Amino acid sequence: MNLAIIGAQWGDEGKGKIVDLLAPHFDVVTRYQGGHNAGHTVIIRRGGVDQKFVLHLIPSGITHPGKTCVIGNGVVVDPQALLNEVDSLRAQGIEVNHRNLLISNRAHLILPYHVALDRAIEAGRGGAAVGTTMRGIGPAYEDKMARRGLRAGDLTDPATLTEKLSHNAKQANRLIAMLGGDLINEKQLIEDGHRWSQLVAPHICDTTYFLNNAARGGKSLLLEGAQATMLDIDHGTYPFVTSSNSSIGGAITGTGLPPSQINCAIGVIKAYTTRVGGGPFPTELNDAMGEHIRARGGEYGASTGRPRRTGWFDAVVARYAVMVNGLDALALTKLDVLDDLDEIKICVAYRIGGRETDQIPYDANQMSEAEPVYETMPGWKEKTVGVSRFEDLPEKARNYIARLAELSSAPFAFISTGAERNETIIETEVLSGCGIRLAV
Ligand code: GDP
Ligand code: IMO
Ligand code: MG
Repeated sequence: MNLAIIGAQWGDEGKGKIVDLLAPHFDVVTRYQGGHNAGHTVIIRRGGVDQKFVLHLIPSGITHPGKTCVIGNGVVVDPQALLNEVDSLRAQGIEVNHRNLLISNRAHLILPYHVALDRAIEAGRGGAAVGTTMRGIGPAYEDKMARRGLRAGDLTDPATLTEKLSHNAKQANRLIAMLGGDLINEKQLIEDGHRWSQLVAPHICDTTYFLNNAARGGKSLLLEGAQATMLDIDHGTYPFVTSSNSSIGGAITGTGLPPSQINCAIGVIKAYTTRVGGGPFPTELNDAMGEHIRARGGEYGASTGRPRRTGWFDAVVARYAVMVNGLDALALTKLDVLDDLDEIKICVAYRIGGRETDQIPYDANQMSEAEPVYETMPGWKEKTVGVSRFEDLPEKARNYIARLAELSSAPFAFISTGAERNETIIETEVLSGCGIRLAV
């Protein structure tokens, strides 16, 4: 049984929490796209104290002993960021070694010149900046598509590494100079490259065969999406997107698994909406309500610390995510953040140029003109933090959830009422409808 977890909005829906919750029930946890632009928060309560992990590149299953974590071929790996993350996990008492962390030899590398390019390109965009995480993600995927990228496998061949790094550094510096960015030091890059090679090489292998053999051998795979459907390079609000396929297609191309091996897809979606970075956001609240949601929800970027833009739940986005990914179910998160509101709005359609539509326009300019058509529901004004049984929720909260499910055209398999693992309502019937049985 292999399951893909996918962001259904603009990211930060709580994918880390859901993956952490599911990880004990799977053998292998795999990231398949994106890089350390992701920030997946996992809160684990130990001895009455909350321990917080923010995973960027390493799958959120890593905190579970005995699980294999895989960084698939579709991920872009910054070797220094990877080593820093390994160090910080070890400092928090988590075991990371070449058996529980495998990195695809086909995964492309993010190198310092990609970061310099990301900065220079963003600066050149001025007011139309994408608002990237400045991690070099876009330029690394550009090099991949242009067939000039270096891959993790290149780190395992020190004999040719110097020449490859030297060539790419020279080419990149010409481009950086043209864009008025900060040139990188070629000698330093070569030195770093060989250090990375020694430290990272033990993790590098052919994960395409590893994953397919695992699946054929009856092991269960959990596929952890990063970013989200509306940030997908093809299906998101282009050009205000990331540079990978963060919707279901990425789970195939980014692992080497065939579509027939993905048995189920669950989308993660907040009870409201957030977005970090530039681009259209029809239900955005630039007012005291938006600020209230940001404060209550702790809506600050897990990677960059930037305040997240906040707004009401957008059912047009939810339906689109269900359609594009073929989501079997959704995981609704952060319900508790809405606990003290008098009224809650839900966007059911857009009005664009005087016409109502229930579709996402392909054009970001049109999307930025979209006026939300709202339905209003009464708030429950009661604490739901930590509720773990649906029947224990206030009736008005249950009504809100039922309406969201109806408008999204998918059932909720999880309803999350807090950051911690146990603060979750698990709808076992919905899960078993997806073929998932969580052994307790
Ligand atoms: P991801 O990128 O999708 O993994 O999400 P992030 O980790 O960037 O952001 C989600 C934030 O919400 C994290 O700080 C989580 O600890 C927190 N969180 C997740 N689920 C809930 C929930 O149901 N309620 C509350 N209050 N916080 C949650
Ligand atoms: P997780 O996995 C939210 C956004 C950036 C920017 C755009 C492009 O934690 O949900 P990039 O650096 O990828 O080229 O930036 O994408 N972005 C995210 N927003 N959550 C993320 O990851 C994001 N990763 C990238 O803010 O708007
Ligand atoms: Mg995040």
